[in-house]
Amino acid sequence: MKKHLIISVLLIQCSALSYAAENDLTIQQQYVEESQKTAQEFMQTLGKTLKTQIESSGIESAISVCKQVAPAMAAQYSNQSRTVKRVSLKPRNQSQGTPDEWERKTLEYFNQAQKDGQLPAKMEVSALEKTDAGQVFRYMKAIPTQAMCLKCHGGEQDISANLRLLLTSEYPNDLATGYSLGEVRGAISIQHILK
Ligand code: HEC
Repeated sequence: MKKHLIISVLLIQCSALSYAAENDLTIQQQYVEESQKTAQEFMQTLGKTLKTQIESSGIESAISVCKQVAPAMAAQYSNQSRTVKRVSLKPRNQSQGTPDEWERKTLEYFNQAQKDGQLPAKMEVSALEKTDAGQVFRYMKAIPTQAMCLKCHGGEQDISANLRLLLTSEYPNDLATGYSLGEVRGAISIQHILK
């Protein structure tokens, strides 16, 4: 059984942790910076690739960026002790994007924080989790829905009929539509197994 640290206290600013043991805090801080850098790089590169693809070859062709480039990048950033992935409460690709319990609670928190007026671009959470395999550092950063995302993740009015057909045939159980600008689309989730 995994024991989850109480995430409600950890949210948004990990520097505000006051209850964690000092040692845990030091470990955590080491990984926070690295994860922030990874998440930022990941999102920037993916965003640029997506934009270039849409502009040069059209929206339909950009499906492959989300389908192939994003998971390939996630795999590239992952190694034996580190896993990087994208998760969502409404995943398009359920086999890759379904959150575990900690991720789900954090995503629910992000949604609530957004309703309370916080900016998704600034939302991040980190925690140390005790598992049977040992201590695991966890980090999540919210992914905001931008204008260009709406063409594939927006409502009826945003997604063209042709694209809808393509999406439905590739993802018959697609949950990732109906988003509006600025909503939390999902999050980058990073885990490090600590020695
Ligand atoms: C051309 C269509 C298209 C555009 C534009 C697009 N996406 Fe996606 N998105 C997809 C597809 C297809 C998947 C499923 C990928 C897979 O199979 O892993 C996906 C998956 C995702 C996932 C992983 C979780 C899930 O639902 O499976 C996130 C997060 C995501 N998109 C965010 C975004 C954001 C943020 C933007 C805008 C910056 C965006 N997408 C723009 C098509 C698109």
